[in-house]
Amino acid sequence: MSNDPLDQSGVWRYRELIPFLTDFGHVITLREGNTPMLESARAAEYGGLRSIWFKHQGFNPTGSFKDNGMTCGVAQARALGMRRVVCVSTGNTSASMAAYASAAGLEPIIFIPHGNISYGKLAQALEYGARTVQVEANFDQILSLVRDLAERIGIYLLNSINPFRIEGQKSIVIEMMDQRDWNPPDWIVLPGGNLGNTSAFGKALRELVQAGLIARSPRLAVIQAAGAAPFYDFVRSGNGFARVENPQTLATAIKIGDPVSWPKALNEIRSSGGVVEKVTEQEIADAKAQIGRAGIGCEPASAATLAGIRKLTAAGVIDRGADVVAVLTGNVLKDPDYIYRYHTNQLQAPDGAPIQATFGNRPEVLPNDPEIIARAFA
Ligand code: F0G
Repeated sequence: MSNDPLDQSGVWRYRELIPFLTDFGHVITLREGNTPMLESARAAEYGGLRSIWFKHQGFNPTGSFKDNGMTCGVAQARALGMRRVVCVSTGNTSASMAAYASAAGLEPIIFIPHGNISYGKLAQALEYGARTVQVEANFDQILSLVRDLAERIGIYLLNSINPFRIEGQKSIVIEMMDQRDWNPPDWIVLPGGNLGNTSAFGKALRELVQAGLIARSPRLAVIQAAGAAPFYDFVRSGNGFARVENPQTLATAIKIGDPVSWPKALNEIRSSGGVVEKVTEQEIADAKAQIGRAGIGCEPASAATLAGIRKLTAAGVIDRGADVVAVLTGNVLKDPDYIYRYHTNQLQAPDGAPIQATFGNRPEVLPNDPEIIARAFA
């Protein structure tokens, strides 16, 4: 019931479980976290389940799960006395970092792949006052460039290799368990890109079991887009890790071919008895429309969860009666262009193949004539 800003944050109210800060005066909170658990019978049926719950991280202040970690990363930057912070991003990290850094009086510097992030996310970076650099290279190439640069010129790197961001993202799972009265589900399903969230979720689960707050760990199911699925290939093949040179997906948030956190994520998949699945562009688009029709909505990467669940129930990996929580990582308004194209049957996969508007919902155009408009609803 406390009105203390720290207690109103869905991250810092669990601060005993993210113990790295000694002086909480460094914290800037935008009241991140506090995201709802939403049930949908319609989505459950589509996913081949009796019931499903969505933990919707799109309700965060900048519209994605990145805020849970960014409040921690920025607090640590301030504790270290850093003045400039930098990240490379497919869009959401940069939107979040721009907001938190500016709120903290730090200078945010952002590197993004030119032409490959959604306008909603680019717009946020500009509005929150970040110095924004678009580089003509993909996410993986820019990240390796900026990792060297950050060290050389002394700017604090706030990508998900930053361990303090991972500490904050643990709160997504902690809050989920709190909302379920500490009853773990059978499965937690999430999209996988750079795999920072997978490593955060696994760490949270191990620590909650160790602390006796939950009796057992749910299994993690990580879903990748088929055109950017190096972690899927690696886990399924059992061979060494090989990056995907030229990752492709319209779910630009997870368009990553060389995820930095794969070793940690592998550990968490193993220790939770987890699985990795991949889904096509068509499967993502249709699952996204179903989440929309449920009145919930999410961005493309988030919909990989329901598409993956549909595949995993069909394959018998997830039981129809299983207790499943899918994490929707980003808000529906992050990528309106994708939505409009899908519903008007203009969406094309990166290879040019048309994506069918299976659940399309075209806007109608009518003349300014009361008779004709009335007849349209007769
Ligand atoms: N979903 C959304 C909406 C994302 O923005 C991201 C990652 C992921 C899923 C994947 O999470 O990388 O922890 O496996 N976006 C990063 C960014 C890469 O720069 O915003 P992950």
